Amino acid sequence: MASPSLTSLFSAVLLLLSASLAASALIQESFVECLILHSQISIPVATTFFSPSNTSFKTVLESSAQNLRYLVPSVPKPEFIFMPVHESHVQGAVICSKQLEIHLRVRSGGHDYEGLSYVSEIESPFIIVDLARLRSINVDIKDNSAWIQAGATIGEVYYRIYEKSNVHGFPAGLCTSLGVGGHITGGAYGPMMRKYGLGADNVVDARIVNANGEILDRKAMGEDHFWAIRGGGGASFGIILWWKIKLVPVPSTMTVFTVTKTLEQGGTKILYKWQQVAENIDENLYIRVIIQPVAAGAKGGKTITTSYNAMFLGGAERLLQVMRESFPELGLTKKDCVETSWIKSVLYIAGYPSGTPPEVLLQGKSTFKNYFKAKSDFVREPIPETALEGLWKRLMEEDGALTIWNPYGGMMSKISESEIPFPHRNGTLFKIQWLSNWKDGIKEEEKPHVDWIRQLYNYMAPYVSKLPRTAYVNYRDLDLGMNKGKDTSFMEAAAWGKSYFKDNFFRLVRVKTKVDPDNFFRHEQSIPPLRLSKDSAKG
Ligand SMILES: Cc1cc2nc3c(=O)[nH]c(=O)nc-3n(C[C@H](O)[C@H](O)[C@H](O)COP(=O)(O)OP(=O)(O)OC[C@H]3O[C@@H](n4cnc5c(N)ncnc54)[C@H](O)[C@@H]3O)c2cc1C
Ligand SMILES: *[C@@H]1O[C@H](CO)[C@@H](O)[C@H](O)[C@H]1NC(C)=O
Ligand SMILES: *[C@@H]1O[C@H](CO)[C@@H](O)[C@H](O)[C@H]1NC(C)=O
Repeated sequence: MASPSLTSLFSAVLLLLSASLAASALIQESFVECLILHSQISIPVATTFFSPSNTSFKTVLESSAQNLRYLVPSVPKPEFIFMPVHESHVQGAVICSKQLEIHLRVRSGGHDYEGLSYVSEIESPFIIVDLARLRSINVDIKDNSAWIQAGATIGEVYYRIYEKSNVHGFPAGLCTSLGVGGHITGGAYGPMMRKYGLGADNVVDARIVNANGEILDRKAMGEDHFWAIRGGGGASFGIILWWKIKLVPVPSTMTVFTVTKTLEQGGTKILYKWQQVAENIDENLYIRVIIQPVAAGAKGGKTITTSYNAMFLGGAERLLQVMRESFPELGLTKKDCVETSWIKSVLYIAGYPSGTPPEVLLQGKSTFKNYFKAKSDFVREPIPETALEGLWKRLMEEDGALTIWNPYGGMMSKISESEIPFPHRNGTLFKIQWLSNWKDGIKEEEKPHVDWIRQLYNYMAPYVSKLPRTAYVNYRDLDLGMNKGKDTSFMEAAAWGKSYFKDNFFRLVRVKTKVDPDNFFRHEQSIPPLRLSKDSAKG
């Protein structure tokens, strides 16, 4: 039997619980009422709103979320998820969330490394506007372009291009489940970047919903605003509805290969050579290196594997000639080379088994869902072999360690640092992504992995870019700094902002101040507007 005080405590808890349930039902009800007033076509409420009491809530919340760390029970959950089926619903969502003062998060493909599209750890309550049902793609081969809607995956975009032509492509991400909404607005690199630049370098127009709920295209938003959305990072400057992208030519025969070397096979020396050639090799060739610890021999021994995973815009004969001239140390042979089409090279680089039909891209399914913490670096001078030896030791201490080195140069060096907000251009040899993955979803399990990757990051400091130590905004890393909420000053945000954008950060702040002075679009690492009183008081 419970004592009287326990009983009353229990009923107090129940009361609180039902009060908060009632409050969230009320929020949803007011939101729906407001939305109806502001939508051009009626809203099928029963199939577009998901609150925690709905049986489908969990499935919808988890549908595209990539980092399982941000789905565990202790992480805050939205009041409800709204899945617009018409552009005017997105406009309505902005107007109503502003009017009702409910914090809004927008999600396209759900790949944010820190879960910012589906979790707010700094403001409550919050809601999610999930664009997964706005995923049309209209390819116009004659115009060499396509209009693609934010909720489509990049794999679907590749597929729709391939459906119409085998000599057109688009240079964006390797992972085919990325949502084009978040992906392209943060840059979007992939295996054709050395030839054609980033996805964001190949955007020619867009349609967005601004902080007033208006739809603007490139002409209506103006060149400053259009500059900011091409690389300035997700959810600071409006909600992207559509991109108009420029297609690029691809040859009908391409070549891919993967060659793996262990430390025992001279892996360290070969990687040292790769660092010297990767940036200036033929720009039709992209060779990334996937590096991880593996078990070796008996008695729990370990080694490191370095896998050279490549795409070449051309046939095997020409590729072998390029490799003989620039990188003979890898020992590439004809046998290693697979001649294929562009769309099949996309599947190869994304890691699908050979023979997988391209239609798999229409499923929009992710091949990577994990508990993970990641960080990134850009390298401007080859890392010495002695430093690599120390790196191997550290990688062998962590089971789920993985690091991927991605070459720059070619077109990436020809575009100026201020052309779009993405500033990592000429002088960058390669980018490193550091990763730790683990299987257990208990919050306490995180600490050793997160500590490990932070220590590794400290160890690497002398060998990577400095002042600022730069990072890729699409590999969002809250260790670099975090906004406190609506009133963050731009000086506080400069800590992480300069890492992602170098001096472009200040232009992003100016654009933000102009287009969203009240800071409606915000999250832990959104660009803050300049507020004269507060920012000037600080000097
Ligand atoms: C497995 C994996 C592989 C990856 N591979 C690559 C790669 O090859 N190349 C590369 O460049 N990057 C890669 N990334 C990083 C990826 O580009 C970013 O995570 C990107 O932000 C994902 O976009 P999204 O729409 O899928 O994510 P979301 O989580 O939906 O969004 C990311 C951010 O953008 C905001 N946002 C989402 N939609 C919109 C919109 N319509 N308008 C405005 N803001 C929006 C969100 O609020 C959030 O802040 C990879 C990530 C993962 C997890
Ligand atoms: C789910 O939500 C919709 C719309 O809010 C509602 O009509 C429906 O009854 C709910 N279903 C359940 C099982 O709660
Ligand atoms: C890149 O920088 C190097 C060294 O500063 C310079 O020699 C080279 O011309 C630059 N390349 C381009 C394409 O601007």
